[in-house]
Amino acid sequence: MKKIAVLTSGGDAPGMNAAVRAVAKVALAKGMEVYGVRRGYLGMVHDEIFQMNGSHVSGIIDRGGTVLLTARCLEFKDPKFRAIAAENLKKRGIEGIVVVGGDGSYRGADLLSKEHGFKVVGLPGTIDNDIIGTDYTIGFDTCLNTILDAMSKLRDTATSHERTILMEVMGRHAGDLALHATLAGGGDGVLIPEIEEPIEMLAYQIKERRRQGKLHDIVLVAEGVGSVFEIEKQLKEKVTTEVRSVVLAHVQRGGTPSGFDRVLATKMGAKAVELLEAGEGGVMVGIESNELVTHPISFAWEGKRKYDIRKDYELALTLCK
Ligand code: F6P
Repeated sequence: MKKIAVLTSGGDAPGMNAAVRAVAKVALAKGMEVYGVRRGYLGMVHDEIFQMNGSHVSGIIDRGGTVLLTARCLEFKDPKFRAIAAENLKKRGIEGIVVVGGDGSYRGADLLSKEHGFKVVGLPGTIDNDIIGTDYTIGFDTCLNTILDAMSKLRDTATSHERTILMEVMGRHAGDLALHATLAGGGDGVLIPEIEEPIEMLAYQIKERRRQGKLHDIVLVAEGVGSVFEIEKQLKEKVTTEVRSVVLAHVQRGGTPSGFDRVLATKMGAKAVELLEAGEGGVMVGIESNELVTHPISFAWEGKRKYDIRKDYELALTLCK
């Protein structure tokens, strides 16, 4: 295969640039032509496709966000728009596509492959860490560290005022960010969508901690559980401590990518090019037990998640006491 395209799609994640850089540089080193698609599938439909050279990816490895820009393209669910996108790629002789994004982006790639014959490779790019077939997604580690930084700052003020602070973090339907932040940041409580716990449990935990002389509580609330302000309202009826809520929101999606995310993205980007060069497609790249692996791209929505979140949740609860 001589011509490939790369795009970023869905929510941006720190490390996407490192992936794009690796795809471009490895493809160019192999003598391939590489095309960047701006604004994800939206740009594919609107023919925002340009040939890349080294200068397009120079100085981007440490930048958050995505230089290719990204979008959530609802039109792509319509075969008519996918046909237009396919035509835009075919007129340039592009045969292979690397998409960096979440499972929704993989679905788009899968349809392009089935309907129009492209070889596609999906790289997991999302802060949520919610893609089946990989232990870690590109952007998760950086986001986790941003949350940890916010937790430390909140702890200063929470302790000074002896308050309970609820911090809502992203993750869509996954609790990985909230749970890992609790483990790594010494959180004092955690609510995740995968495990239902009555609010009374959290209230009891907070009261017990205060009885032991603890001066503050930082409780991580995954957005998938529901609005943190609703949880605050319920909690206030059950505890006597002052409660405040913080929504970290899009702050957690930005920032320079961590070393871990850059290495992960770089290795995955290189792997994607190797797969396309060998004529392989219809796959996603993951990292499992520290090894790069591939799965059929549909594994992202048909497979079963390996991660046993309950075990880590129970550990977090033990440490929150
Ligand atoms: O998938 C990444 C993510 O940041 C989720 O954690 C969050 O639910 C969503 O995207 C937010 O999307 P938007 O940036 O479109 O508001």
